[in-house]
Amino acid sequence: MAHKIKEIKGRLIYDSRGDKTIEIIVDVDGYVGQAAAPSGKSRGAREAEPFPNSSPETALILLQKEIIPKMKGIDIDSYETVDNLLIDLDGTWNFSQIGGNTALAISVATSIAISKAEGRPLYDYLASMTHTQPILPLPLGNVIGGGKHAGPGAPEIQEILVIPKNPKTISDAIAANIKVHKLVGKFLEEKITNYPLGRGDEGAYAPPINVEAALEIVYKAAKMVEDELGVKMGVGIDVAGTNIYNTRSERYELASVGLYLDTEEYLQYLEELANKYEIIYIEDPFKEDDYESFRKLSKALPKTYICGDDLVVTRSELIAKAASMEAIKAAIIKPNQVGTLTLTWEAVKTGKKYNLLLIASHRSGETTDHYLPHIAVGFGCKVIKAGIIGGERISKANELIRMNEEVREIQRLNAG
Ligand code: PGA
Ligand code: ZN
Repeated sequence: MAHKIKEIKGRLIYDSRGDKTIEIIVDVDGYVGQAAAPSGKSRGAREAEPFPNSSPETALILLQKEIIPKMKGIDIDSYETVDNLLIDLDGTWNFSQIGGNTALAISVATSIAISKAEGRPLYDYLASMTHTQPILPLPLGNVIGGGKHAGPGAPEIQEILVIPKNPKTISDAIAANIKVHKLVGKFLEEKITNYPLGRGDEGAYAPPINVEAALEIVYKAAKMVEDELGVKMGVGIDVAGTNIYNTRSERYELASVGLYLDTEEYLQYLEELANKYEIIYIEDPFKEDDYESFRKLSKALPKTYICGDDLVVTRSELIAKAASMEAIKAAIIKPNQVGTLTLTWEAVKTGKKYNLLLIASHRSGETTDHYLPHIAVGFGCKVIKAGIIGGERISKANELIRMNEEVREIQRLNAG
C-alpha cells in the first residue's frame, strides 16, 4: 500500500540510566508514530554506532539538517523504503554518519504510523510484511546481575536469567518470572545481613555475592516456583565474555570465586556450572571473536542453547557464519545493533534458516516504549528478553499481556 510521509521530527529524551537518547515522531497519511531507541552498555565491537561522535546532540542536528529534508513528503510502500533511504544517506557499514539509534527510531516510528494508517497493530503489520504467524514469545528475564550492569562486588557474570518453558499463557509466564524475582530477593535478604536489595541497570538484583552463590539462589528459587506453579523453569546466564577476558593474561577472570582460567579451563568450568545448575541457556560465554570456543562448548553441551549476542550483533552474515560452523544454537536480536527493521528482519530470516532459537532483546538503557514485543511477534522470535521488573522492563511485559487479547497462542521450549 502506498503511503506519504507528511511530517517528521525528533527530540532528545532520557533512557532508564538517565542518559540522553533520540525519539522520533513520524506522520504518515495523518497517522502519528513515535519511537525512541535504547542504548547498550556492554556493546559488541561490530554493532552500529548509536550516535555520531557518541553525541545525541549531533544526532539531532543531523536529523534536522540532513535527514528530515530528504524524507518529508516522500511516498513510501513500507518501512523498507525508509530503511533503504537511511542506509544510502549514511553510507557507512555501521551507521557512524547518522547514528544507528536515529535510524532505528525512524524505522520503528514509521512502521507504527503505517500500522495505524492501515488500522492494525504493529505486530500484525510486521507479521504481514514477513509472512509470519503471530505467536507470543516466552519471556527470558534476568534475576541477578553483575558485570558492567552493576557495581563492584556483584558477580562477574553479567546476568543470571530464568525462562518459563511451558506456560499456558503469557500472564502465567510473566507471573512465574516475577515470583522467582521476589523469592530471590527474599533469599538474598536472608543470606546477606543489611543488604538493601540494590538493583543493577536492568532491574536485576546486584548483590555482593560470588557467581556460584548467585547461581545457587536463582536455581533454588526457579525450582520452588516450578513446583508451586507447575510451570517448568529453565536457568540461563549471559556471561558477556569479552568483559571478563583479560587480554594481557589471556585468562577469563572470575575473582569472586578466585578463578583465573585459560580458555580450555574456563570451558570446562562452564560445563561444570551448566551440569550443576541445569543451565539451559548460555549467552556470550567467550569473548566476541572466539567462534571456535563457542563451537567447542556447543558440542560439549548439546542440550544447552549457546547463544551469540556480541558474537553476532544482529548481523545476518555473522549469524550465518556462527550457525554454519555450529558455534551457536541461539541468537540475540537487538534492533539497534544494526539500525533498521529491514536489517533486523534479515538477521531473523538467516537465524530461522539455520533453525536457531531467536531472542528479541532489550538493551540495558531502555525507555518505556513497548514496540519490542511487537517486533518479537511480528518477526516470529520465540523468546523475548526484556528484564522482569522496573518501569521500562514491565512496560514490555504489560504490552505482551495486552497483545494476548488478540494473539492467543504462546511458544514452548522443548529442548534444554
Ligand atoms: P547492553 O547488554 O548493556 O549492551 O544492552 C545487554 C546484553 O549483553 O545482553
Ligand atoms: Zn548479552
